Amino acid sequence: MGLWAILPAGGNGERFRQGGQADKLLATLQGRPVLAWSAEAVLAAEAVEGLAVACRAEARPGYEAVLRPLCERYGKPLRFAPGGATRRESVAAALAAVPEGVAWVAVHDAARPLLPSAWLDGAFAWLAARADSMGAVPALPIADTVKRKAADGDALGGTVDREALLRVQTPQILRRDILAQAHRAVPADTPVTDDAQLVELAGLGAIAWLPGPACNVKVTEPDDLRWADAWLAR
Ligand code: CTP
Ligand code: MG
Repeated sequence: MGLWAILPAGGNGERFRQGGQADKLLATLQGRPVLAWSAEAVLAAEAVEGLAVACRAEARPGYEAVLRPLCERYGKPLRFAPGGATRRESVAAALAAVPEGVAWVAVHDAARPLLPSAWLDGAFAWLAARADSMGAVPALPIADTVKRKAADGDALGGTVDREALLRVQTPQILRRDILAQAHRAVPADTPVTDDAQLVELAGLGAIAWLPGPACNVKVTEPDDLRWADAWLAR
């Protein structure tokens, strides 16, 4: 089977910086950088054999100082790839750095520090038991009522049936060749927000969803980091 983790870490964390902070991936949670938490979450999964990270050239020394000792501790190889202008481009670069012959990848946002490793191992075992599966992603129900915006002004434009909807996180576990094919097939200027969307747009098969861990927040704004800190201290 063979599984590598891909950590897209090529963003600039603009929304976090607007809150007056520096690089969100180096911001600390209980004294350790967010990047160390996210990387350890995937490295501690037994199924994961190695880590491919995409980041901006200027961020690499700082990130490598965090990641190299962790990968050594777990005895798993670390490869770097250049970050791209979009998350999709960063993932494509990291995907190209995954060794040939690795059949599966788990793409995990470097900005999600609280993933339980057991979720990744459980999901990979679920996939391994289904020979024809293309991949699986963590998904959660939506607790709030969901509305459309009216075309103009600040009026509401109707209520959406939330039972038909899911919010989707990472890690997104996908067959490596399917993801690579999807990257080639979908035009570079098509807006995409996750990896599964590329496979959907390329029409390469159905991807499963599995109940995701509610704690698996993405650090986007400074408040998300405070929430994560409080969750760890609970
Ligand atoms: N990412 C990436 N390459 C990009 C943009 C984003 O690898 N060009 C990564 C981020 O580093 C992050 C993940 O994709 O780990 C999710 O992106 P997001 O939370 O949006 O992070 P940023 O793009 O860095 O933040 P912002 O959108 O606020 O600038
Ligand atoms: Mg972004």
